[in-house]
Amino acid sequence: MGRFTVTYTATDTAGSYRDSWLRSTDAATRADFWLEASAFIDWTVPPRTALEEREPGLWRWFPDGELNTSYNALDRHVLAGHGDRAAVIYDSAMSGTRVSISYSRLLERVSRFAGVLRAQGVGVGDRVIVYLPMIPEAIVAMLACARIGAVHSVVFGGFAASELAVRIDDARPTVIVTASGGLEPGRVVEYLPLVKKALDRSTGSVRTVIVRDRESIPGSAADYAGEGPVTWLDWATEEDAATPAEPVSLRSEDPLYILYTSGTTGNPKGIVRDNGGHAVALAWSMRNIYAAGPGDVFWAASDVGWVVGHSYIVYAPLLVGATTVIYEGKPIGTPDAGAFWRVVEDYKVTVLFTAPTAIRAIRRVDPELAELKKYDVSSLTGLFLAGERLDPETYHWANDGLHCPVIDHWWQTETGWAICANPRGIEEIPTKPGSATFPVAGYAVEILDSKGRPVTKAGKEGNIAIRLPLPPGTLLGIWGSTDRYRNAYLSAFPGYYATGDSGHVDTDGYLYVMGRTDDVINVAGHRLSTGSLEEVLTLHPAVAECAVLGVHDPLKGQRAAGFVTLKAGARIDHDTLAKELVGLVREHVGPVAAFRDVTILDRLPKTRSGKILRKTIRQIVDGEPYTVPPTIEDPTVLDALKLAVHGTAHTH
Ligand code: COA
Ligand code: AMP
Repeated sequence: MGRFTVTYTATDTAGSYRDSWLRSTDAATRADFWLEASAFIDWTVPPRTALEEREPGLWRWFPDGELNTSYNALDRHVLAGHGDRAAVIYDSAMSGTRVSISYSRLLERVSRFAGVLRAQGVGVGDRVIVYLPMIPEAIVAMLACARIGAVHSVVFGGFAASELAVRIDDARPTVIVTASGGLEPGRVVEYLPLVKKALDRSTGSVRTVIVRDRESIPGSAADYAGEGPVTWLDWATEEDAATPAEPVSLRSEDPLYILYTSGTTGNPKGIVRDNGGHAVALAWSMRNIYAAGPGDVFWAASDVGWVVGHSYIVYAPLLVGATTVIYEGKPIGTPDAGAFWRVVEDYKVTVLFTAPTAIRAIRRVDPELAELKKYDVSSLTGLFLAGERLDPETYHWANDGLHCPVIDHWWQTETGWAICANPRGIEEIPTKPGSATFPVAGYAVEILDSKGRPVTKAGKEGNIAIRLPLPPGTLLGIWGSTDRYRNAYLSAFPGYYATGDSGHVDTDGYLYVMGRTDDVINVAGHRLSTGSLEEVLTLHPAVAECAVLGVHDPLKGQRAAGFVTLKAGARIDHDTLAKELVGLVREHVGPVAAFRDVTILDRLPKTRSGKILRKTIRQIVDGEPYTVPPTIEDPTVLDALKLAVHGTAHTH
């Protein structure tokens, strides 16, 4: 490469929040704003142009720039003399393993593994599926892909084989990188049988499977060698023998990764991220939102399979020369509700980022925070929460118990980083419980009514939309289909990206995100489509009709509840059917759906035109007041529903 320059310091974009936000979104100034921000990244060809509208609605960031993301995450820190600094701390509460990996060592491992992939014929633009648990090899594999311009697609370990197969069929990878398995409390999740099953079900793009052997988990590449046309290789053997690969220079808009997320159907959407916009946005976010930089210990207690893991376990901390923690364990039960505080003390974590559900789980077990008192957590400068709405009760509990600010911030797989947050690195803005504060740089957030007209009245709920262009780091599109991208996000409100969330803005301009406008639900911070769960329930031969809804859950925020009717003449007792339906979801979607609630009804509440009254069902289940819709086909069905879920027809 050789053309990179090392930059730890460049013009800072900080000032007051308002000035910075206006500069970043105003058409006259945004190009300068983001070109200044791009100076925090080392480019092989520095960009001269900030953004370009390629086709109506489709924007590209830094179109004339070239860079390599893995070089920016690793090489430049080593070249700047920080090779001995810890890049990754791996802490497995499941196995007791604790390992610190320096930037130099991580660079060596990534270069070698990039060589392993290259030896398998992987080059620029080729896809690699990464199906790994929370072990350092997940970071190595992702950065190795980035190094040689391959596009990684990480699949979360809690998905079933069929979900993996759907992703293989859509991304058409040539290589899968996996491990013998993952560790969940009380059980071992063996990955290789799932990979084999997924390969058997998919259409055959995969040539090689590379397996990281994990002690104590059965299964290795050797067990599958010679079975079928796919070559199975052992990670350690290949890494030892590999020729290290140098980073390749890529166009800013070349894809870095595809990450699948739930949409409205059973076909997940492959969200595509670029290299250049992503690196600039994440580096900006570390300084200006999280107030974190070189030498800080940043811990995103999430999973590499989710966007939070991509952005804040892997890329952002390394892009700015911080130390990232990769933690295999849970907030409670591994071994107790002090697990998070123990990790903070052990590694002097400065920023902790997790989902509200994790905090609710700790609160449930340790309401007085007795565990917290056993540890020194004074290194923490902020607790950031996202993935679902931070309910005010949880906010107050955490804020009262901790010495540092608790910050809710709102974002999506599609955006890759926060849309709204409290930008602590720029200015301390007073927090309001229940609100994700203000839009961050580049996001022109508006509330629109169903016809796309701006809602100007404070407190009035509407669709949350973002005026185009979206800032750098947000999605390039959906893998394989520009039309699908337009239809899913751009067509509802011309000139805007539709977030799919609803909410309101108060008189001070604070945004409150209240829920989804589509059938996406959020279970323990995991995004699921009720449509895809319904598709699975209808696979059962006894099921005539079904509706799956997200109902309130005190721990997980929401949980999926299924309501089914039986086909005429179906002979199956209700308990057996419920068990079989729970099993079907586990088999087709995976344990992560945590699907356990099935209610069997004679009829579903519907309108006279046959539309299932989902909102009314949800209100009844959640015990909320509701009005009987005037279009209802038969109001007595509601009494039957109440009886089935509450044991009495006399609620509201
Ligand atoms: N691989 C395989 N299985 C997995 C898995 C993985 N990576 N992650 C979760 N699962 C399984 C669990 O073992 C569980 O299986 P079970 O039905 O056999 O018990 C099921 O999926 C549901 O898991 P989960 O939603 O995690 O529920 P839980 O009851 O085990 O734990 C919490 C509850 C709140 C402790 C847990 O959800 C949590 O830590 N959440 C943090 C949220 C988070 O990281 N969100 C990511 C976005 S920021
Ligand atoms: P995911 O793509 O899995 O990150 O899920 C994104 C969705 O989670 C958003 O569209 C919201 O519905 C929800 N979400 C994430 N963060 C927040 C938050 N801070 N407040 C409210 N909802 C959130």
